[in-house]
Amino acid sequence: MRAFSSVGKDLARRDDSSIIAELSRKAGRKLSYLGLPSPWMGDVLAWKPFLARVFAVEQEKRYLSHLMDTAYAYGLVNQVVYFWGDIDEIMKSQVDEYGQSTADVFPIDLINLDYCRGLDYQEFKKLSTLESLITRQRQSLLAGRLSASFPYFLVLLTHNLPYREGDPTAKRKYIRFLIRDVKYYAESLREQVYTSYEWYLSAECPSAYPHKCFVMGKFFACAQRNGFKAVPRKVVQYSGDKDAVMLHYQFQITPVSLRSPVPVDNKLDVIDILNYPVLSCEGEDINPDRPVIRV
Ligand SMILES: C[S@@+](CC[C@H](N)C(=O)[O-])C[C@H]1O[C@@H](n2cnc3c(N)ncnc32)[C@H](O)[C@@H]1O
Repeated sequence: MRAFSSVGKDLARRDDSSIIAELSRKAGRKLSYLGLPSPWMGDVLAWKPFLARVFAVEQEKRYLSHLMDTAYAYGLVNQVVYFWGDIDEIMKSQVDEYGQSTADVFPIDLINLDYCRGLDYQEFKKLSTLESLITRQRQSLLAGRLSASFPYFLVLLTHNLPYREGDPTAKRKYIRFLIRDVKYYAESLREQVYTSYEWYLSAECPSAYPHKCFVMGKFFACAQRNGFKAVPRKVVQYSGDKDAVMLHYQFQITPVSLRSPVPVDNKLDVIDILNYPVLSCEGEDINPDRPVIRV
């Protein structure tokens, strides 16, 4: 039986394929992948034509031999290297549970953080993994550890949306923080932003929307702090394994000022973040009646 599979996930992987193929064309080569493929490797198999190297991270030790069996069965055994442990810990320490270093794998073209669980507003643990990954990318690019073209890299992030939201305080605080400079905007724009803000905090707002603001806001700031520009390509909500509601993000990250990163205050556009749609697999806004800010 293939785990981590659903109609929605297959559609999301297919959609990712087009931006992966685009990067492969622009770079003029096959790409390197770092992520959480699981032993079934649904993502790696779907993107196989565009991949040269696969760095697979897996926290379940019992999955590792199964993962290499899959690699063998699909003719990928010479392309796949695995690391054992929690990716959050490995990216910070740069070694896995076997003591194997990850330092030489960077820079990576495609990072796929395909978590089975949710993101925690309070702890931000999984977003700190993104921060470690972005820092490693920057360090390796600055060290000139690149012999091929590197137009940009892709980060795919997937997490589960809990059926019942926990304490909404952190979420509210973050959206309030995002709109903190709006008081200086012209009145008509300011009012639209406040209307959108009220909607975000209301019961009508699907939980995917505040999550999207949180992830985009945090991620853009982190990319900018490290001298990169992050652009969202798509945010999709789909129904995953066992009907879990999943949120999937595609980001394109371009190096812009690696040597002198802009100190982060809030250079990202809050209106773009609030307005950015969360789509269904069919490509429609999951809440077409939400208030959109017109500039
Ligand atoms: C959702 S599955 C990946 C599915 C795969 N990307 C695909 O498209 O078919 C996540 C895999 O990563 C592992 N995993 C989850 N969180 C992890 C973490 N923090 N560190 C390392 N492995 C993790 C899980 O055990 C599982 O095998």
